[in-house]
Amino acid sequence: MFAFLSPLKPTQQALAVTLRLWRVTEATRLTAPDLRRFSFGSRVGVGPLDVPSRRFCSRRATTDGLLFRQMFESESSTYTYLLADAETKDAVLIDPVLETIDRDLKLINELGLNLTVAVNTHCHADHITSTGLMKKRVVGLKSAISKFSGASADIHLSEGDKISFGKHYLTVRDTPGHTDGCMTLVSNDQRMAFTGDALLIRGCGRTDFQQGCPKRLYESVHQKIFTLPEHCLIYPAHDYTGRMVSTVGEERMFNPRLTKSLEEFVKIMNNLNLPKPAKIDISVPANLVCGLHEV
Ligand SMILES: [Fe+2]
Repeated sequence: MFAFLSPLKPTQQALAVTLRLWRVTEATRLTAPDLRRFSFGSRVGVGPLDVPSRRFCSRRATTDGLLFRQMFESESSTYTYLLADAETKDAVLIDPVLETIDRDLKLINELGLNLTVAVNTHCHADHITSTGLMKKRVVGLKSAISKFSGASADIHLSEGDKISFGKHYLTVRDTPGHTDGCMTLVSNDQRMAFTGDALLIRGCGRTDFQQGCPKRLYESVHQKIFTLPEHCLIYPAHDYTGRMVSTVGEERMFNPRLTKSLEEFVKIMNNLNLPKPAKIDISVPANLVCGLHEV
């Protein structure tokens, strides 16, 4: 009966039989809502960790008519995000990295997108942005960054500004503290927030250089990010351990730094004693001029 198990060891066979029997019995006994409880990322109740399935996967669009891709640059562990209107093909790129410009442009070309804006969430210290070089390779492309960043760009943004692409848009929330010019970009339906280095998954950007101020960062996160809907997905600029996405509710509950009081947070941030980013001396000057410095 279980001839298909023959290559397996006896313990493996027993486990496989148990699982097979469990699946058969549970599948026939459970109702449709019960079965959904066992689907990865599906609704299991009410609470900040309860994320409807179609919002859970970082590589899928969460909004009708929105094309979304999360891409990774391994040297600086930076995420670049591509968002586009599936109908008009107008697209926005968030935090593109110089080393991955060819990959990003290839994808944009393959998908037939019209890249209109390349935006940096802040003036990065750990990598050089590709926005300047990209402007040379994409006709009509505009670069954008916060007006408080001190960096040059075609568009200078501040609180409440909108970056439109087709019927979609991102709204700017100023979230200084890691740098003066840090922004969080929130999708029009508030299902996605691109937090840059202001809020990372179970962490946050450091505050010991580039106008860093722990008090400002704490207030930014609590007032501008933690006030978003608890199911809103958090897409940070970096992750160093392979995590790709979080939610506002999750970070409000589990972020080891930002669940603390302001006083405790300041103390933590002032005692991180981190080494200087390897590329800071070339990245910051380059990023102040759209990434073209010494390219
Ligand atoms: Fe940063």
